[in-house]
Amino acid sequence: MEMNHTAWTTFPNAPAPGTVICPAADVPQTGVKSFDLNGFPLILVASGDGLRAYVNACPHQFLPLDWRSENILSADGGVLRCSNHDAGFDACTGAGVDGHGQGCALDPVPVVVSGDQLKIGAP
Ligand code: FES
Repeated sequence: MEMNHTAWTTFPNAPAPGTVICPAADVPQTGVKSFDLNGFPLILVASGDGLRAYVNACPHQFLPLDWRSENILSADGGVLRCSNHDAGFDACTGAGVDGHGQGCALDPVPVVVSGDQLKIGAP
């Protein structure tokens, strides 16, 4: 499924490029970490493929992926599994791969390390 790389900008309270997410030292090396950026839900996903960021709203019912558990990344880092109703997403691309995730996708958010901070990137 085709990713929509600007969909995140249409969410309420979408942060401006350059908005600080967290200190670079706080970026997870593996697993997930979610943030509320002034009302904009963001989730970082760290695996062997590197760091990804998505709007933390599962397309099934728009609940945060880690609402019920933070343990949502598969052991091999390949699949994100929504803690609510088990929708599966490719951790690297956000594409839905299983269950309620089929036919939909997470919305990727660009992030950049700048100095000693992780920030929102340009759309
Ligand atoms: S809200 Fe994610 S599977 Fe239902």
